[in-house]
Amino acid sequence: MKKNIVLIGFMGTGKSSTGRVLANRMGFSFVDMDQYIEAKEGRKIPEIFASDGEAYFRRAEREAVEELSGRRHVVIATGGGTVKSEENRKILHENGIIICLTADVETILERTRRPGVRPVLDGKDEGDRRAAICALLEERREMYSHADYFVDTSEQSPLQIADEIVHYV
Ligand code: S3P
Repeated sequence: MKKNIVLIGFMGTGKSSTGRVLANRMGFSFVDMDQYIEAKEGRKIPEIFASDGEAYFRRAEREAVEELSGRRHVVIATGGGTVKSEENRKILHENGIIICLTADVETILERTRRPGVRPVLDGKDEGDRRAAICALLEERREMYSHADYFVDTSEQSPLQIADEIVHYV
């Protein structure tokens, strides 16, 4: 078996909550990549985007991918945009089993409602947010397709999703 389990997928598909449960079940450690970056930077992601822009955040994300891929027996919950980079995808794939979590648009809309957390969706009303989610999902469809296994999380709890992944790996 490969060293790590890497959860990829759009915002609101349950990467962090599932990752925590999954790591527990596997006896692996758990790292949430967004939290890892925030701890290193000493500030929250919206602050990083606002002060230094998305390109800066993506560089920090690359560093995190490189650092975390060197670990063993870890469940990594990536950020929704981590696999935009082909190089990130390559590094993650070489070091782990890639599981893509998916969800329908309504579920994503519901789960990403809290403002001030996800700068790529912020500052929009409900209708605009739905449109932004649909556009981003379309734009990112191809990059999420590079996974070893897919789980639709819309109707499942983190425990159920983790169970399904444990049976797969
Ligand atoms: C992003 C998703 C976020 C976070 C950042 C950018 C994206 O992670 O990395 O706000 O571009 O999709 P989550 O998927 O954990 O919300």
